[in-house]
Amino acid sequence: MKKLLLPAMGLAAFCLYLVACSKAHESDLVKNGNGNGNTCDTVNMTYTANVLPILQNNCYPCHGNGQNMGGVQLDNFATLETLAHNGTLYGVITHASGYPAMPEGGAKLSDCDINKIQDWINRGAQNN
Ligand code: HEC
Repeated sequence: MKKLLLPAMGLAAFCLYLVACSKAHESDLVKNGNGNGNTCDTVNMTYTANVLPILQNNCYPCHGNGQNMGGVQLDNFATLETLAHNGTLYGVITHASGYPAMPEGGAKLSDCDINKIQDWINRGAQNN
């Protein structure tokens, strides 16, 4: 019995090591955004250069160019600013509970895009 215990413990330790390693890797991926080797710059994001293109590609079909599904027009900056400041924008794109998941019926935004929007919100959701 004792003979079996030692290798079993060794195996368990090895498994823990593997799990710890893959977890460490996971947070690297989140930091880098998309995890496929491309770097994802999420520092000093601005509305015009970084956030607007994401919204135009993923949200304007229903919330821009005259579309206002759910009564929301994201090409109205004042509206967008309010949603950014009150947590709704972040809630819908991260599929947080209590918010309708956006884009509705579509795939969740990439971690990279979510991080970009988050940085812009954290920096005060400026019209820059
Ligand atoms: C296919 C159409 C469609 C797309 C694309 C879409 N939405 Fe929506 N959106 C809706 C509809 C419909 C509602 C109303 C849903 C509800 O109230 O349950 C809504 C509601 C919202 C709301 C209001 C939530 C609330 O609690 O009041 C926000 C904010 C929002 N969408 C943001 C976004 C963002 C940001 C994107 C892009 C990442 C996006 N939407 C993409 C259809 C869409």
